[in-house]
Amino acid sequence: MAGNITYTMLKPDAVSANHTGAIIKMIEEAGFRIVAMKMTKMSAETAGKFYEVHKERPFYKDLCAYMSSGHIVPMILEKANAVEDFRTLIGATNPANAAEGTIRKIFAKSIEANAIHGSDSDENALIEGNFFFASVDKF
Ligand code: CMP
Repeated sequence: MAGNITYTMLKPDAVSANHTGAIIKMIEEAGFRIVAMKMTKMSAETAGKFYEVHKERPFYKDLCAYMSSGHIVPMILEKANAVEDFRTLIGATNPANAAEGTIRKIFAKSIEANAIHGSDSDENALIEGNFFFASVDKF
């Protein structure tokens, strides 16, 4: 059965463009409850650890530099069928392919600076949530 928790973070392009409030409004209006949230900044080393799964990909180095270039807003969200419903709300990784009305279609600048992250599985939601917040299961 699908879990009720997902992990997200607003990326440096969205935060620096002052879209934090508008994106959070869309998240809440879509029925997600924010159960953990902070504004922080990753070092390139921390970004490297977070994205370790992509370390063989050609975009890994640029991605780590980009994700440590400014503030981010990590959040844990709660809703029935959270992972799948949230990925529908944010749209495709490449904003050029994202559906109308999705967060990435509205706010993302490029495939790298794509405004927001959303976990791709219940398992990764817990791993990623625990990366930024202690003991996700308490939520
Ligand atoms: P996300 O799915 O949140 O996590 C992995 C990130 O890598 C992805 O968002 C993009 O920001 C980035 N990414 C994925 N594919 C590419 C690509 N082909 N070129 C550059 N960045 C990418």
